[in-house]
Amino acid sequence: MDAVDEKFEALLLHVKELRGFDFTGYKRSSLMRRVDRRLAQVSVDGYAEYQDFLEVHPDEFTALFNTILINVTAFFRDPEAWECLRTEVLVPMIAAKAPGTPIRMWTAGCASGEEAYTLAMLLCEILGPEEFRERVKIYATDVDEEQLTEARHGTYGVRAIEAVPAALLERYFEQSGNRYVFRKDLRRSVIFGRNDLVQDAPISRIDVLTCRNTLMYFNAETQARIIGRFHFALLGSGALFLGKAEMLLSHAHLFQPIDLKRRIFRKVSRLPVANGGVVLPDASPFAVREQIAGLELLRGAAMLTNPVAQVVLTAGGLVALTNRRANELFGLSVGDVGRRFQDLEVSYRPIELRKHIEQALAERSPLRVSDVEYTRGPGDTLYLDVQVNPLVDADAGLLGVALIFHDVTAARQLRAELEHANRELEAAYEELQSTNEELETTNEELQSTVEELETTNEELQSTNEELETMNEELQSTNDELQTINEQLHRSSTELDEANAFLDAVLSGLRAGIAVVDPDLRVRVWNREAENLWGLRPAEAVGQHLLNLDIGLPVDRLRPLVRQALAGDADTAELVLEAVNRRGRTVTVRVACTPLPIAGEPPGAIIAMEVGEFASARGGHPPDGTEV
Ligand SMILES: C[S@@+](CC[C@H](N)C(=O)[O-])C[C@H]1O[C@@H](n2cnc3c(N)ncnc32)[C@H](O)[C@@H]1O
Repeated sequence: MDAVDEKFEALLLHVKELRGFDFTGYKRSSLMRRVDRRLAQVSVDGYAEYQDFLEVHPDEFTALFNTILINVTAFFRDPEAWECLRTEVLVPMIAAKAPGTPIRMWTAGCASGEEAYTLAMLLCEILGPEEFRERVKIYATDVDEEQLTEARHGTYGVRAIEAVPAALLERYFEQSGNRYVFRKDLRRSVIFGRNDLVQDAPISRIDVLTCRNTLMYFNAETQARIIGRFHFALLGSGALFLGKAEMLLSHAHLFQPIDLKRRIFRKVSRLPVANGGVVLPDASPFAVREQIAGLELLRGAAMLTNPVAQVVLTAGGLVALTNRRANELFGLSVGDVGRRFQDLEVSYRPIELRKHIEQALAERSPLRVSDVEYTRGPGDTLYLDVQVNPLVDADAGLLGVALIFHDVTAARQLRAELEHANRELEAAYEELQSTNEELETTNEELQSTVEELETTNEELQSTNEELETMNEELQSTNDELQTINEQLHRSSTELDEANAFLDAVLSGLRAGIAVVDPDLRVRVWNREAENLWGLRPAEAVGQHLLNLDIGLPVDRLRPLVRQALAGDADTAELVLEAVNRRGRTVTVRVACTPLPIAGEPPGAIIAMEVGEFASARGGHPPDGTEV
């Protein structure tokens, strides 16, 4: 017996009310383990808290169902049992059926469909594909919609099809990449649908019902209800195929084993009681009577000492005979012989016999009432099977009635003990099997976690490798940049040195020097130029030569500079009157030479020297006038 945890029960009712899924009929041990597992996964402590959690997270229901419903399955699971089903059930059943008549199968708790397709393959092997398509319907049901969707696709991975014999794999599956798809033309005969074994009506007129490794998750009462429905679902001689932990030991009145070891059962039909009463032998042949002296005496003694209690009535309802055991049981005596049976207590206690006698007489058919409780006093209770046998002669003429009281107290007790032991055995076996399946699921989950971790690891490793490569590339770019930097540094130093050198040269010259670019913008303006005209390099550099506000009539320089910029290698000179920075009029000789620098636009160097100059020396002023 599972201990009741009220909070857990409340949780089950909550799930039932909100989602219509009834887990109350499931065995608590396994169910609690699964729910606990889910609680741990979402880090919730306690069933009441989890109930709140479900309200806040409606998606959690799906995760909970997926944790609870164990979907372990396989093609040809327990191959010996399938072979037995084929030879002992499927082949004879098909042989006994009229040609062309429908064949209806039901696979209840089909999970991802492997069991239903296994059945399909076996039937197709017996019937051939054409007849299979025409006659067979396999209804495959489960409560788990996700599993049903998977089952409908009929597509399986390499691991799943390992159990399918090579020849069948070849005939019934088409390969698509590394997946195997069950043949579409045959798949149409396998109809997948949702059916909750606890709450929904069964499918009817079924020849063979397979429900494997599913019943074991339910408690005894729910199992009994489902088995009752299976009995209804099956045709008269239909067969039931269960999982290896499911033995049906407590339901022998509904199903009898065809092969107990393989868990294959035949439905027990309620057979009509054989018609006709007990026919008493006609008077023994004369010779026999002659040979056996004292035959009547013998019969009387046998009747009297029979350990089974008996009362014989005449056709008119008078007590004709009672034996010793009957006297003992019901307090009868020789004095009761000849009395009307209905006047005796035994006619209504322990059971109202008169109506049964009437029925048996009317039907001329024996009748049996089982397990009649007979309490004779405190602590003295017996159980009787009461049989009412009409006695008729060879011409069906009524002679009387024999009332036989079988004491089944000991047998009943033994049966109860046996049933109890069986139930315990069955429950233990089921528990073992379901724990096994749980472990298998957990194992699969662990395996997929390991696979995920491996994948993540591989990804990390490759990211790492990529990072290493990038790092190396960055390093070499860095090295290159450093080299360039060093080169730049060197160049900059060289440039600085060259500039310093140039500065020194320019500063050392006794002439004012200006260097202009092709647009006549001043690029260099040396110290002597500053001294001459009072304009600092910072004020002159970047300015247009002809816009310089100095005492030199710079507009007169234009032709001179143009000539130099045009690349005329001859130095052109001019002597001009100018006003220096002190306001004194001075004579300035201006010489202009081109400044060719490789890879750069040309420039011009203008040298300005104050002195006593009569006229220009050498060169020609571009406008042809000499000053
Ligand atoms: C362990 S699997 C068995 C699969 C397959 N029959 C086999 O033996 O390989 C049990 C299946 O029973 C289904 N199941 C659980 N409760 C059910 C219910 N109330 N009604 C119908 N199917 C149910 C589960 O969804 C699961 O697919």
